[in-house]
Amino acid sequence: MTTLFTEVIETAILVFKLYLRLFVSIPVSPGELDAETNLAIGLYRGIKGLFAQGGIDNDYIDKLSRYISYTEDTPREQPHVVADSRPLPTWPETGDIEFRQYRLRYRPDLDPVLNELSFVVRSKEKIGIVGRTGAGKSSLTYALMRLVEADSGSIIIDGIGISTIGLHDLRSRISIIPQDPSLFEGTIRDNLDPTHQYTDDEVWAAINACQIADLLDIPTKVRKPKIKNPDKSDTMSKEESKQSSKIRKRHWIEGTGLDKWVKRKGSNFSVGQQQLVSLCRALLWRRKILVLDEATANVDTKTDQVMQSVIRQEFKDCTVLTIAHRINTIMDSDRVLVMDQGKVAEFDTPANLLARDGHFKRLVESMNLSKKQETRPFEQALALSSVVRLSTQWLTTAKGYGILYTMRYTPD
Ligand SMILES: Nc1ncnc2c1ncn2[C@@H]1O[C@H](COP(=O)(O)OP(=O)(O)OP(=O)(O)O)[C@@H](O)[C@H]1O
Ligand SMILES: [Mg+2]
Repeated sequence: MTTLFTEVIETAILVFKLYLRLFVSIPVSPGELDAETNLAIGLYRGIKGLFAQGGIDNDYIDKLSRYISYTEDTPREQPHVVADSRPLPTWPETGDIEFRQYRLRYRPDLDPVLNELSFVVRSKEKIGIVGRTGAGKSSLTYALMRLVEADSGSIIIDGIGISTIGLHDLRSRISIIPQDPSLFEGTIRDNLDPTHQYTDDEVWAAINACQIADLLDIPTKVRKPKIKNPDKSDTMSKEESKQSSKIRKRHWIEGTGLDKWVKRKGSNFSVGQQQLVSLCRALLWRRKILVLDEATANVDTKTDQVMQSVIRQEFKDCTVLTIAHRINTIMDSDRVLVMDQGKVAEFDTPANLLARDGHFKRLVESMNLSKKQETRPFEQALALSSVVRLSTQWLTTAKGYGILYTMRYTPD
């Protein structure tokens, strides 16, 4: 009985705490709110169970301990806004990025995954980032967004150490397109401009630049949710029920263009189309820094090419960091950063990197050779010779010709 009493008191305190978070102005992130709401529902059921059965079930205890773990034991993020250290609304104006002796580890007891990183990316540079799996490429982007805080060292963007400002001020000024696109249910306009701060003309300009206008011509077909009518369902004849199901199937959400409906998780768009929508969003928002983390890993070569050409034309005044798994994607970058075991192994122009016998050259060769295995015998011979020729060609020709070589002899 004492245990039961303690549990009820404990639960009441937790629910009261949740109430404070919701209705009194205690800052709470959407993630926390979601977790706490789910747990509160669980707790409510638990309490109901307590009174109904006069006992405590395991599910309830599990939810309670998870609640305590999430709310008490989980480390908090740094403040979203630091009032006396806010960057200007125009920051970053140039998009210069500097990593200074930067070290990152995921937990204090783990080895660092980024180790004494020091490099400078100049304004408007297009940087390709490559390296073997686990080299620390994605960790670099997490560091930039402060998803994980620095163990030591610093990152400076346009003269401001990013650790000195609030997380919201930092994250809202950098655009990231990850491998898995994120679209949500709503109109395409809501997806591109959730806060409605751009004009229709501006949104259309971004849509046209990303070549997705065609996707918005046809209304989205969705099944109407089944409306249960207990009074009628019993009396409905077979024919009537068939007819009603047909009507349900034929339901469309009207709206084309900006009103085109996006289904949950963007399921009425292919992954490639979703990535183009993400790029369109980044284009509309016009941040000075754009980061792509294997954004084209799951899209076809044509979509990859469209994305690269949009980035070249529309983001020419921005600093762009592109983590890529296809070597062609980053061959026309201004410079390529080769990561190896959390360190900068090489950082130079593609032509200079190919001229020396280093990581990048070996990476290009291994990719060409692995592609060669997929090609026909005649193409295999050409591909093999292209590996040899490629390295000498890069020394003397402009980088654009080098890309043609790679593409010509190792077609997708
Ligand atoms: N959340 C995490 N907790 C602990 N270690 C992690 C975590 N995320 C990544 N790591 C480790 O950090 C190292 C770098 O991982 P990271 O994801 O940055 O590599 P990557 O170069 O992006 O690899 P890939 O090409 O496979 O995407 C790896 O050894 C990985 O196991
Ligand atoms: Mg990665």
